[in-house]
Amino acid sequence: MKDYKIAPSILSADFANLGQDVSDVLEAGADFIHFDVMDNHYVPNLTIGPLVCESLRSYGIKAIIDVHLMISPVDEIIPDFAKAGANYITFHPEATKHIDRTINLIKDQGCKPGVVLNPATNVSVLEYCLEKIDMVLLMSVNPGFAGQKFIESTYEKIKEVRKMIDNTNQQVRLEVDGGINLNNISEVAKCGADTFVAGSSIFKSDNYKDTISRMRSLLTKI
Ligand code: DX5
Ligand code: ZN
Repeated sequence: MKDYKIAPSILSADFANLGQDVSDVLEAGADFIHFDVMDNHYVPNLTIGPLVCESLRSYGIKAIIDVHLMISPVDEIIPDFAKAGANYITFHPEATKHIDRTINLIKDQGCKPGVVLNPATNVSVLEYCLEKIDMVLLMSVNPGFAGQKFIESTYEKIKEVRKMIDNTNQQVRLEVDGGINLNNISEVAKCGADTFVAGSSIFKSDNYKDTISRMRSLLTKI
C-alpha cells in the first residue's frame, strides 16, 4: 500500500477554537494539517497568515503543516511561514514572477516546496521543475472556497501527473485538493494521488474519527 496521507483543510475548522479543533482532528487520525492562505487578490477570499501557523505551533501542534499559498506575490511571506513552523509550502506558478527562484527560496528557508495547478492549468509547467519540488498539488476545485464540488476532469490529470512523477527518481507527493469525500477518495487514490486534502467532509462531519477511519479503510482497499 502507498504511504497515503489525509490532510484536513483548516478552512472548515472552527476558527474561534482553532488549536483545540486541530488537536482533535489529529487525535482522530489525520496525518497533515492543510493550511489555506488567501489574500483577497489572487483569490476572492481572505484567511490566515504566519501568525496563526505560529500560534498552532505554540499551542503544541507537532504534525506536518502543509501551507497552501493562494496569494500573489508569494516570495515576501515565505521566510515568515518558515519561521512560523511550516513544513511544506506550495504556491501557484502564475502567482510568482520567477518559479525557480520561489522554489529555491522555500528550500533555502528549510521547507519543502510544492507547485499547485488550478483545474485549467496545464501540467507542462511541471516539466522544468518537477525534479526540484517535493509536492505537486492538483486543485480539483477553483481555489478560494471550501465546500465546492469535485471537478471530474481532475481524474485524468492525476493519472497524467502520476506518470510524470514516476518517470523521475524523486519522491514527490501528489496531493489533490477540493471536494474530496467518502464517495470519491477511492477513485482519486486509484488515479495515483497519495495525499488527500479534505475540508468540509471531515470538519463538518459529526465524528472526525469515524470519517477519517472510513477514509483510511477505503484507502487500504486500493
Ligand atoms: C480551496 C482550498 C481547499 C478547501 C478544501 O481553495 O484550497 O483546501 O478548503 O475544502 P473542501 O474539502 O471542503 O473542498
Ligand atoms: Zn488548499
